[in-house]
Amino acid sequence: MRVFRVIAIALPCFLAWIPAQGASCDLKAGDANSAGPGCARAWFDANLRINAALLGFIPNSVKKGLLSLTPVRRIRNAVFKDLGLPEDMLQFVNYPTRFDCRDATAALKGAGIVCPRLEDYAFRLWDYWERNLDPDLFIDRTLKGQVAGKVVLITGGSSGIGLAAAHKMAAAGAITVIVGREQDKLDAAKKEIEDALKSTGNSNGGTVVAASADLADLDSCDRVAGEMIDSYGGVDVLVNNAGRSIRRSVHLSVDRMHDFERTMTLNYFAPLRLTLGLLPHMRARGFGHIVNITTMGLQTDTPRFAAYLGSKAALDEFGTVAGRELLGDGIAVTSVRMPLVRTPMISPTKAYRALPAASPQDAAELVMRALLRRPVRVSRPEGFAAEVLSTIAPNTARLVAHLVYAVMPESAPEARPAPRRPPLAAGVGAITRLLWRRQP
Ligand SMILES: NC(=O)c1ccc[n+]([C@@H]2O[C@H](COP(=O)([O-])OP(=O)(O)OC[C@H]3O[C@@H](n4cnc5c(N)ncnc54)[C@H](OP(=O)(O)O)[C@@H]3O)[C@@H](O)[C@H]2O)c1
Repeated sequence: MRVFRVIAIALPCFLAWIPAQGASCDLKAGDANSAGPGCARAWFDANLRINAALLGFIPNSVKKGLLSLTPVRRIRNAVFKDLGLPEDMLQFVNYPTRFDCRDATAALKGAGIVCPRLEDYAFRLWDYWERNLDPDLFIDRTLKGQVAGKVVLITGGSSGIGLAAAHKMAAAGAITVIVGREQDKLDAAKKEIEDALKSTGNSNGGTVVAASADLADLDSCDRVAGEMIDSYGGVDVLVNNAGRSIRRSVHLSVDRMHDFERTMTLNYFAPLRLTLGLLPHMRARGFGHIVNITTMGLQTDTPRFAAYLGSKAALDEFGTVAGRELLGDGIAVTSVRMPLVRTPMISPTKAYRALPAASPQDAAELVMRALLRRPVRVSRPEGFAAEVLSTIAPNTARLVAHLVYAVMPESAPEARPAPRRPPLAAGVGAITRLLWRRQP
């Protein structure tokens, strides 16, 4: 394992180090659109050189043959899309380019005017291209461009993250269908969204539809999917957001199999059932986006959430695999790994009151990010950092998580009457136990 880690770190460094021999290519390092020509220049200077001679040993005919295969072309296009490079860039690697200025030099002879060096003005041409000609400029990347007039189904849209996301979808002109168990909550949410549209004078806002269903009853999922198909011919965007969280240590769950079953039912089987019900229509229309609201806990592997994280991991993995299969059908599946968000879901957990948490509006921004780019995953930098730590130093990550687990209190009611040790004593106790029970 250690060898793989060293390779994983060393390889990118090595590739970046290889000196260019005959060809170079600029990899987009940031968006220069909003900055001035100086920025374009900095961009132009900060290039990553790729040695085209690396693939020189492959005969041209073989390269061309391989690249004309549809699967290879699609993989190449996907890689280029991820890197933000134009697909036809490949033909210009090693392209024999000559800029002939002999006529201009002859005509300018004696005038005291000389042709500038390419390096001195190329950034201006690039800047002009980026500002006026880049085809990406003409794609509507606003939320309105993505969802206006489309049908967006948000489960758990009557509260917290789902409600904040529903506000944004309706404001962008989507037909927003919110689902929850309690009709009163749904009606209040619908009114709140409609009032917000009115108060902001948004005449382009979409309609809000409230549909009550207990999604933990899987037949209700089929009913909701059926109603969506009957009323709208299907949905364009499905946001699987309704969920249930349980915070309880594994050793306190040994006779609580039902905790594992209920988290799996609402967090995995319900979104799965809805997805399966709506998928045939998405495929038939050649368009669809399934957004699964999962959690940053999948990156931090937070103790006391085994049941919850197990169910979210199932949803996350299902989505990743389904997304790979459905790519060719025009359907994307995104997992939004939410950080801690201040919503009714976390309010019963006293331990979280003092912790920093995102607002539902911040969380809705992450949902928007999913809709705008349709990536496989949306996650926060802290989640990514935790993932990196677990990969390069798994034992340290486990130890840190265990110590945090030891000092944080239980939420389970039966554990509360036990006298609670101060955090410092709990931490020292945990370390002593670890040393005492040290594994060889
Ligand atoms: N809050 C966080 O810190 C956090 C962090 C990571 C991930 N998440 C995830 O984000 C999602 C939304 O959580 P939230 O914090 O916004 O929760 P919330 O404010 O408690 O909202 C939950 C929503 O789901 C609905 N719901 C619950 N059970 C349902 C059922 N059986 N059938 C249909 N609808 C149901 C609720 O409406 P009714 O009660 O009327 O049914 C409500 O609209 C969840 O999947 C959660 O796991 C939250």
